[in-house]
Amino acid sequence: MKPYFDAGDVQLYHGDCRRLLADLDVTADCVVADPPYGETSLAWDRWPDGWPDALLEVTRSMWCFGSMRMFLDRALQFGAWRLSQDMVWQKQNGSAFHADRFKRTHECITHWYRGAWAETYHEVPRAPYYGANVKVITAKRDRGYHLGDAKKNTHVAGSDRMMTSVLQVRNMQGRALHPTEKPAAVLSPLIEYACPPGGLVLDPFAGSGSTAVAARLLGRRAVLIEADERYCEVIARRLAQDVLPLGGEPG
Ligand SMILES: C[S@@+](CC[C@H](N)C(=O)[O-])C[C@H]1O[C@@H](n2cnc3c(N)ncnc32)[C@H](O)[C@@H]1O
Repeated sequence: MKPYFDAGDVQLYHGDCRRLLADLDVTADCVVADPPYGETSLAWDRWPDGWPDALLEVTRSMWCFGSMRMFLDRALQFGAWRLSQDMVWQKQNGSAFHADRFKRTHECITHWYRGAWAETYHEVPRAPYYGANVKVITAKRDRGYHLGDAKKNTHVAGSDRMMTSVLQVRNMQGRALHPTEKPAAVLSPLIEYACPPGGLVLDPFAGSGSTAVAARLLGRRAVLIEADERYCEVIARRLAQDVLPLGGEPG
């Protein structure tokens, strides 16, 4: 199948991901999915039924953006996937869909896998640590595969520590190429976690192509799918640039 755009390290396909994934012979180290949440009556906000199943043969590891309502309403559609963890992207501002509820300034991000967890690539990125020294905890006994090496989890001032599950990153307000564009600073730790260097990330709902921008900066390859041709054009222009903007500043 001929890509809409091919930059060597990134291929972009135009069409419905559910149909294209059946024809594309692609195996990805991980997927980063940011589907329409299907929460509003806006024309573009239509949940594509069945897309989580369409990815089962493509990858063993998948990040998915959404709201709590979206995940609860569509829980059955993730039935074949196992949830490993959830994260929060906290923004500086957000949407006030309802005047009688708290203004939502966060998005949920969930990680899903299939098969054996031990065989699923996962490497928590480390972040600078500016707090006080925290006493080293020495494990008295084997903590088991899931808990890992206790020493790795200790904090030393001026050093680094495992990233936390809340990402505080400014959204793309005022500089976005797509109404729901995700900043590269949110996407980067997800990609580093689930995709080894040189590996392949697939984004079935590419929007402005942010996943490919982040993947490229991290030395990963990407395959993108986008149904709206206007955004395929945006992506092609963006990826053809030599200098790529790193979206997202600390919140
Ligand atoms: C939430 S946006 C993704 C934004 C993207 N993460 C970014 O940072 O720019 C969802 C995108 O999925 C596209 N889309 C919706 N249904 C689709 C489908 N069935 N297959 C492929 N793309 C689809 C929409 O056109 C929209 O651009």
